Amino acid sequence: MASEQGGYQAVYDGWKSNPEGFWRAEAAHLDWIRAPEAIFDAKSGAYGRWFPDAICNTAANCLDRHIAAGRGDQLALIYDSPITGSGSKLTYAQLKREVDLLAHAIRGFGLEKGDRAILYMPMVPEAAIAMLACARLGVIHSVVFGGFAAHELATRIDDAKPKLILSASCGIEPGRVVAYKPLLDRAIEEASHKVETCIVLQRPQVQAELVAGRDHDWAELRDNLVTQGAGPVEAVPLQATDPLYVLYTSGTTGKPKGVVRDNGGHMVALHYSMHALYGMKPGEVFWAASDVGWVVGHSYIVYAPLLMGCTTVLYEGKPVGTPDPGAFWRVIAEHDVKVLFTAPTAFRAIRKEDPKAEHLARYDVKGLKALFLAGERADPDTVKWAEDILKVPVIDHWWQTETGWAIAGNPLGLGMLPVKHGSPTVPMPGYDVQILDEAGKPVEAGKMGSIAIRLPLPPSCLPTLWNADERFRSSYLTEFPGYYNTSDAGYRDADGYLFIMGRTDDIINVAGHRLSTGGMEEVLASHPAVAECAVIGAKDNLKGEVPVGFVVLKSGTNAASETIERECVGLVRDRIGPVAAFKTAIIVNRLPKTRSGKILRGTMKKIADGDAWSMPATIDDPAILEEIARVLELKGIKG
Ligand code: COA
Ligand code: AMP
Repeated sequence: MASEQGGYQAVYDGWKSNPEGFWRAEAAHLDWIRAPEAIFDAKSGAYGRWFPDAICNTAANCLDRHIAAGRGDQLALIYDSPITGSGSKLTYAQLKREVDLLAHAIRGFGLEKGDRAILYMPMVPEAAIAMLACARLGVIHSVVFGGFAAHELATRIDDAKPKLILSASCGIEPGRVVAYKPLLDRAIEEASHKVETCIVLQRPQVQAELVAGRDHDWAELRDNLVTQGAGPVEAVPLQATDPLYVLYTSGTTGKPKGVVRDNGGHMVALHYSMHALYGMKPGEVFWAASDVGWVVGHSYIVYAPLLMGCTTVLYEGKPVGTPDPGAFWRVIAEHDVKVLFTAPTAFRAIRKEDPKAEHLARYDVKGLKALFLAGERADPDTVKWAEDILKVPVIDHWWQTETGWAIAGNPLGLGMLPVKHGSPTVPMPGYDVQILDEAGKPVEAGKMGSIAIRLPLPPSCLPTLWNADERFRSSYLTEFPGYYNTSDAGYRDADGYLFIMGRTDDIINVAGHRLSTGGMEEVLASHPAVAECAVIGAKDNLKGEVPVGFVVLKSGTNAASETIERECVGLVRDRIGPVAAFKTAIIVNRLPKTRSGKILRGTMKKIADGDAWSMPATIDDPAILEEIARVLELKGIKG
C-alpha cells in the first residue's frame, strides 16, 4: 500500500502534514455505496466527524467485497473450542450465508436501521454471525461480556433499550457450565426497559427453557428460513457516521459508558491497522485470543481480520488448562497463525505453568510472524520470556475501548522500529500524543504527565457516548481543552518512545479486563452492615492487578467478621460478575483520609504493592495508614 513507503517516520510525517489526504487514500481500499467527498467535518459532533457525506455498509466490506474478489471459498472464520472439544470452519461464502439467514430473522422481528440488539454470548461463531447480521441491517449491536452478572446486563438493557437480545443457553468455563438463560431472565426482569424478543442458541451442554411468545430457538428460526428458501439480504446503505455498535466499558462510577463506534471511520482505521501495524495480508490467519465481549474481540476477532480478507480464529478456551499450557502453540501450528494478539496476562499464565516452555517443542510454530500484546502494561519480564521462547518480534501496543485500535505501537507493516521493553513504542499515524502537566502544558522528555491526544481523534475513535454527549465532553474533553484525555499517565523518552505507567482514575486492569473500583465500592456500600468502603487494585503476579476491598462496619454490627467479608465478596460476584475477580474484602476500623475527607486510595495501593510511600501532608490521622499496613500484612497481601 502506497502509504507504507518510506518507513514509520515518513508515513507519520506524511499523515501530519496532510491528515485528510492520508485518510482519503486509506478509504480508497474499501467499498463505498457513496464514496467520501468530504473527509472530515470539523463543525459537526463534539470534535468533528469523519467521512460525513459517505454511505457504506461495514458487513458488506467484511464479506461481499471479498466474495466479489474471488475469496468466497477462502476460510473466513475458524472456530477452535478445546473447552468443548469441538470446532468448525466457515468460508467467506458460508459465513455470508449464515449472516444473511440471521439478518432475515432479525428483520422478521421488526428491527431496522438504528434499532439496538444486545448480544450476551459465549465464544461461538454465532456471536460473530450476529454482529455481522446486525451490521448488515444497520441494527446497532451491543455485546455484553458473558462474565458479567445479571445486574450489569440489566444496566446495559436500560441504557441501550434493545428491541432484541441474542443469547445462548450457556457459556463454558473450566470446571463449570455457566447457564446464561437464568441470568438473562433475571436481567430482563430487573430492567425497566421491556425487551420484546430473544433469540436463544441452544448448546448441547444446557437446554434453556424458553419463555413462550418472547424467546425463540436460534436453530429453528434458521432452519425455517432455509426451508422457506430465504436468499441474500441486501446490505442496508448507512451513513458513514451512523453507529455500528455501542460497547459499554467501565467508567469511574457503577454506570458504564456506552462507547459509540461509527461505520465509515471504523472500517477505514481498522483496515489500515491490519497492514500498517500488524503487517497482515489478505489470506493470512490472524488470531486475537480475547473475547467478543471486549473491544479487542470486536476489532480483532471480528471486524479487522474480515475487513482485510484474512482468516480469523475464534478460540473458546484458555491459555492454560484447556488442556495444558501448550494450547496456544497447538492453535498456532494447527491453523498456521501468522499473528497472535493477546493480553500479557495470558503469557504470564503460560509461563507460570510451563516456565521452560516445554510444551512448545510439541508443535511447529514456525509460521508465526509476531506476537502483539495489549490490554494492560506488558511487563518487560514477560515480553523477554515470550521473545526468548518464540523467537519472533513481541510487540506491546497501547489502546483503549474508546479508540477501537492502537494509539501507539511498533508498526510491523511500516518497518519495525527497535524494541524498548516497557514501551509500546510510538504513536500510530492519526494520533498526535502529548504528555501534559496539570496546567495542560506539554512536559519535556522523561517527565511524567497525563497522556492526551490532540483533537481531532482519528477515524474509529468514539465520536460520543451513547445518549450522553455531555458525559462524553466532561469525561474526556474538558480537563485539557483541545485534547482528548486518555486518563493514562506516562512519559515520552528522548527518542519519542511512549511509556504508559497507569491510570489516573479509579479504573483497574484485572487479567486484561477493565474494571471500575468505584463500581465495586457502590456494590459494597449497598451491604446493610457497611458504613463506608474503599477498593484498590493491588499488584498481582498473574493478573497484573486484583481488587482488594476495605470496609468499615456500622456501629452495633454483631455478625462475625468472616461472615460479612464473605457476604461482601459474594455481593460483588453477584452484582458485577465473576470477571471482577473480587476475592478479598477486609474489615478495618477506619479508612485513611485527608483532612477534607478524601480517602487515600493511592497510598493504600502503594502499601499493598510494597512500594515506597510517604505520609501525605494532608492526612487526617497518620496512625490509620499504619493500621492498614498491619491488616494487609496479616492477610498476606502486603507486596
Ligand atoms: N463467562 C462467565 N464467567 C467468566 C467468563 C465468561 N465469559 N470469563 C471469565 N469468567 C470467570 C472465570 O471463570 C473466573 O471465575 P472464578 O472466579 O469462578 O474462577 C472469573 O471470571 C475471573 O476470570 P479471569 O480473570 O479470566 O481469571 P481466570 O483465573 O479464570 O483465568 C487467565 C486467568 C490469565 C488464564 C485469563 O484471565 C486469561 O486467559 N486471560 C487472557 C486475557 C484476555 O482474554 N484479555 C481480554 C482483553 S485482550
Ligand atoms: P480497555 O478499554 O479495556 O482496552 O482498557 C484500556 C486501558 O488499558 C488503557 O487506558 C490502559 O490503562 C490499559 N492498557 C491497554 N493497553 C496497554 C498497554 N499496552 N500498556 C499499558 N497499559 C495498557
